[in-house]
Amino acid sequence: MDVKTIAVIGAGTMGRGIAYAAAFGGYKTVLEDISSRVLEQAVAWIRQSFEEGVARGKVEAGVPEKALALISTATDVKDAIRNAELIIEAVPEELEMKLELFTIFDKFAKTGAIFASNTSSLSITDFTDITVSRERCIGMHFFNPVPKMKLIELVRTPHTSEETVVTCREVARRMGKEVVLVNEAPGFITTRVNALIGNEAFNMLEAGIATAEDIDKALKLGLNHPMGPFELVDLVGLDVRLNILEYLHSTLGEKYRPNELLRKYVKEGRLGRKSGRGVYEYPQPKAAEKKA
Ligand SMILES: NC(=O)c1ccc[n+]([C@@H]2O[C@H](COP(=O)([O-])OP(=O)(O)OC[C@H]3O[C@@H](n4cnc5c(N)ncnc54)[C@H](O)[C@@H]3O)[C@@H](O)[C@H]2O)c1
Repeated sequence: MDVKTIAVIGAGTMGRGIAYAAAFGGYKTVLEDISSRVLEQAVAWIRQSFEEGVARGKVEAGVPEKALALISTATDVKDAIRNAELIIEAVPEELEMKLELFTIFDKFAKTGAIFASNTSSLSITDFTDITVSRERCIGMHFFNPVPKMKLIELVRTPHTSEETVVTCREVARRMGKEVVLVNEAPGFITTRVNALIGNEAFNMLEAGIATAEDIDKALKLGLNHPMGPFELVDLVGLDVRLNILEYLHSTLGEKYRPNELLRKYVKEGRLGRKSGRGVYEYPQPKAAEKKA
């Protein structure tokens, strides 16, 4: 199918990035969220990301104006998806919410439209099996921050058609992304490997093998990882990582049993940067500074 319009549902961290990539690829882009305040922030963020892209020499001058003109916003999902040939959802990681949305897509989207999910760990089959269009359902797993991250994992369920895969490959290419194709399995490729590395780092810390700083340093300088596993988990959120590990443990087995120290930190509210303390401590700005 020839994609001209992309609807992005959810304008949070990922949705706004996906809308950036869609407009960058020359697609008419409708960004939808239940919150109009989030939509305003998302459009400002997209504008700023294009400016940064130009400053870094990654985006040609003139492109941002054209791309921004392709973006519109909506607060009603039915309005947003009406004319789209590709719908990508990026709402919170809750199965019930995704189920509800895919039911709406199936009822109100254009005939032949493709329904994609940006889920990082849920089973796409679990919320697409109910749709009559399941051959046109697929995972498009983008990475944060979307403007800078090259990869999209295309996740094919047992029902996803070859035509759907081909169309999404072409969309990814026009967005300037690289694709890997994954047959649906818990955690795809990246979430699965990353969870294991992060958990092993906690196992080593708990066993007193090295300090957090030295484990991070070893993976950065010895294995060429751009970030250490603890720096990364503090960014992602220890609670988010624990949820993923619990899911992988229940689906893939013992190897993924969440480390006890990770559990303890989450229980204590040490969730990472967002709570001011995870593995490391992050001084929080004082209330007066926050307002400024
Ligand atoms: N944050 C990441 O690094 C990351 C990376 C890859 C994939 N993901 C996945 O992407 C998805 C979104 O994650 P996020 O971090 O962007 O979440 P987020 O919380 O930043 O954004 C979600 C947005 O969805 C909106 N929303 C909630 N219900 C809605 C509805 N019914 N209709 C429309 N909008 C609705 C919220 O207002 C919010 O703005 C999740 O499935 C997550 O697993 C996240």
